[in-house]
Amino acid sequence: MKSIILCAGKGTRLRPLTHTSAKHLIPIANKPVLFYAIEVIRDCGIKNIGIIIGETGEDIKNELREGSRWGVNISYIEQKEALGLAHAVSVARDFLGEDKFLMYLGDNLLKNGIESYAHKFIQGNYNAFVLLTEVNNPRHFGVAELKEGKVVRVVEKPKEPVSNLALIGVYFFDKNVHQAIKSIKPSARGELEITDAIQWMIDKGYKVGAEVIKGWWKDTGKPDDILEANRLILEDIERDVSEAKVVDEASQISGRVKIGKGSEIINSKIVGPVIIGERVRVVDSYVGPFTSISERVEIRKSEIECSVILEESKLEYIKGRMQRCLIGKGVRVYHSKDLPRVYEFILGDHSKVGLS
Ligand code: G1P
Repeated sequence: MKSIILCAGKGTRLRPLTHTSAKHLIPIANKPVLFYAIEVIRDCGIKNIGIIIGETGEDIKNELREGSRWGVNISYIEQKEALGLAHAVSVARDFLGEDKFLMYLGDNLLKNGIESYAHKFIQGNYNAFVLLTEVNNPRHFGVAELKEGKVVRVVEKPKEPVSNLALIGVYFFDKNVHQAIKSIKPSARGELEITDAIQWMIDKGYKVGAEVIKGWWKDTGKPDDILEANRLILEDIERDVSEAKVVDEASQISGRVKIGKGSEIINSKIVGPVIIGERVRVVDSYVGPFTSISERVEIRKSEIECSVILEESKLEYIKGRMQRCLIGKGVRVYHSKDLPRVYEFILGDHSKVGLS
C-alpha cells in the first residue's frame, strides 16, 4: 500500500503565520504537524509516501527531504491549482499506479494510530474505507450516513446533516477510486470533492466501509484548532528537565514539564504540561499549563499560559497574563517603561491583537 499526504493548501485561515510558513510545518508541541502524519503512516508499515505540494512546496521539501529520517521514501507531486481533494488524487495518478493507498490530509492530527483501520481495509476487501468521528458542527464537514454498519450516503458540508458523523481527513482506497474521480463533476464550490467520488462508488455498488475512530482527531486549519491540538498533545507528555542548562533554586517546576538542551529557567514558575525547546530563557516569569515554547525564545517578567510561541520570539515586561496566544517566529512583545504610555504596534498583514 502507498500513501499520499495532501499539503497543497495555502492555510489562509492561519495568517499571518502562513505568510512565512507552510501551515503543515507549524509546530504543535514543538513538532511540525506534518511530522505526526508521517509517523502515523510509517507506523502502518507504508514505505512510499507521495506529498502533494502547492505554493509552499519548497519549504516542505527542505524540511522532509527524501524521508530517511523516518525510514520512508518521499516523492513530491505538484498540484498547481487547488481544485479539490479528488483532484489531488488525480494528479498523483502516476505515483499511485494500480496500488491501494491511504490518503491523509496533511493538517490532520490523530491521537491514536490507524494501523487497525488499514488492516480492516485490506482484510475486508473494501474498495474504499473512511474514518469518522462525532462532531458538534457537522455542517462544516463531509458527513456520512450509516445503516447496519455500512455507509449508505456521504454528503459534503450538508445544510441539513443526516448525522453528526464527520469524515476525518484519512481515507483508504483501491484503484476503483480513479474511475470514480473521472466520473464526477466539480461541486458548487468549484472543487472535485472526494465525498462525491465516494458517493459514486456507493451508488455503483462498490464496497465502502467506515469506522468511528477512538480517541481525538483535530484538523489544525485555524488558530483555535492549533491551540486545542497543542493542548491535546501536551496532555500526554512526560516530565524531563534533565537537559536544562540551568534551573535555579528560586524556580519552581511543577508537573509534566519538558525542557530542551541549553535552556535556562531563572526565578520562574513553570506549571505543566509545558514543553520548552532548546536554548530558551525564562526569567522572572510564569509559564502555565498547555504552553509550547520553541527554541531560542526569551520570556522575561511576563506570564503566559495555554499558548504556542515559535522560535526566537521575545516577550518582555508584559503586565497582564497572556492566554491563548499564537505567536510566530521572531516576534517581540514588550511593555515599554517610557512615557507617554502608548501602544506601539508593528504588525504584519492579518495579525490579530486582543487588548483588555
Ligand atoms: C475536507 C473534506 C471533508 C472532511 C474534512 C476533514 O474538508 O472535504 O469531507 O470532513 O476535510 O478535515 P475541507 O477541510 O477541505 O473543507
